[in-house]
Amino acid sequence: MARKIIIDTDPGQDDAVAMLLALASPQDLDVVGIVAVAGNVGLERNALNALKVVELSGRKDIPVFAGCARPMRRPLITAEHVHGETGLNGPDLPAPKLLLERQHGVDFIINRLLQDEPGSITLCALGPLTNIAMALIKEPSIAGRIAEIVLMGGAYFEVGNITPAAEFNIYVDPEAADVVLRCGAPITMLPLDVTHGVQSTPDRLEAIRALGNRAGQAVFEMLSFSEDFDLKKYGWSGAPLHDPTVIAYLLQPGLFDGRRCNVEVETGSELTRGMTVADYWHVTGKPANVQFLRSADAPGFYTLLTERLSRLP
Ligand code: BDR
Ligand code: CA
Repeated sequence: MARKIIIDTDPGQDDAVAMLLALASPQDLDVVGIVAVAGNVGLERNALNALKVVELSGRKDIPVFAGCARPMRRPLITAEHVHGETGLNGPDLPAPKLLLERQHGVDFIINRLLQDEPGSITLCALGPLTNIAMALIKEPSIAGRIAEIVLMGGAYFEVGNITPAAEFNIYVDPEAADVVLRCGAPITMLPLDVTHGVQSTPDRLEAIRALGNRAGQAVFEMLSFSEDFDLKKYGWSGAPLHDPTVIAYLLQPGLFDGRRCNVEVETGSELTRGMTVADYWHVTGKPANVQFLRSADAPGFYTLLTERLSRLP
């Protein structure tokens, strides 16, 4: 039976690819809803982008919700310098005909978790953790009903991308990350340590473009746009691909390697705010709250991604 997931996202080209990977895989993943959060750009644009991506996938049955417009305790920091002013620069996607649901995204998350069988819904977090933390604060009993929270965020060995110490999703709302990391639900983290290893090299992007379908062309155009910033920054032959690793993990966990350990987030220090401190070598004796993944089989990941994208219109 397909695993039920809610995707919480700030699309974002890599978020869009993650959504397409999930929506191309209905036999494995039942996407019960998509919730936008403020992050890469403001909430309104992220929600609009989510609708565009759902339409691109041809899966018009998927409800899209808007969640929180800013982090819990801080002004929003955005990343137009990576994703462009729309958050999804690259392809020229048509204005969506689909409409946002009226219910607030945080209430949707709470209601689905309360209404469905305990342990049947997995939360996939591809942006700042604001919506999920707010849901946990508003209705703490949901923590025990979450099957798993699989999130792209943080770093340990690769340290940071938005500051020398912090990864973007965690940096934008460290207090939300703290709530999530302490909630007690099973958590799997896909940090920069994984995503820096799955680079969208020219041959991998070309294989996606060569699929010849609308989705493949759009993904090629999205990633060709967003990789520009990273290629200049790192000087690598391909850019890291972040958020699709969350969905790939659900589809093929054997592609990833890591271990269970304690992970905490820095919320105080100005210098290291948003840093995720992973006790990877088990030096503290603190209880493991996270399955912290560290590496991926990059060729296997791109084979999976490309094959699944070929199933879309
Ligand atoms: C994360 O930040 C965002 O810009 C990407 O969409 C990804 O979720 C990577 O640090
Ligand atoms: Ca994202």
